[in-house]
Amino acid sequence: MQIAWLDRVAALEIACFSDPWSRDSFEELLRRDDTLFLCAVEDGAVLGYVTMYTVVDEGYILNVAVDGHYRRRGIGTALIQALDTYGKKNNLAFITLEVRESNAPAIGLYSRFGFIKVGERKNYYHHPTENALLMTKFY
Ligand SMILES: CC(C)(COP(=O)(O)OP(=O)(O)OC[C@H]1O[C@@H](n2cnc3c(N)ncnc32)[C@H](O)[C@@H]1OP(=O)(O)O)[C@@H](O)C(=O)NCCC(=O)NCCS
Repeated sequence: MQIAWLDRVAALEIACFSDPWSRDSFEELLRRDDTLFLCAVEDGAVLGYVTMYTVVDEGYILNVAVDGHYRRRGIGTALIQALDTYGKKNNLAFITLEVRESNAPAIGLYSRFGFIKVGERKNYYHHPTENALLMTKFY
């Protein structure tokens, strides 16, 4: 991840989510040394990104998104694969995340990596209000 890519990440975030993180929030993540921030880049263009912070041996995915024009080409898979590889190499106990219960593409992606539903948070999301599924991959 490079600081020059932040504007593009923030723009993708706005395009993908109804409650987007701000550019400043991403910049703060970039400065933390307990957080992975990876971008998928082709010919200088940022097509997707993922972030995950770690606490001891636990991984918490915060953001995952791929440009709408480049979906279903394996970019999301490559981003989650990178986190999975990190999890294995660093002996994480688990990686976990929240996802809207209607978000079939994301749930499909995570399931392929062995994430399973471990819980649910009622009305966690807004615009529109929706439950979150908690999905975790245990190592
Ligand atoms: C979820 C997301 C990151 C997937 O990125 P992607 O680059 O399209 O994913 P991939 O091409 O690697 O797809 C991997 C697998 O995910 C599942 N998947 C992806 N898109 C899907 C769709 N539209 N419908 C059903 N399953 C889908 C499939 O299992 C797919 O494998 P396949 O193509 O061999 O069938 C992307 O759809 C996205 O950015 N969505 C908007 C932001 C978002 O919802 N982020 C997640 C927040 S928790």
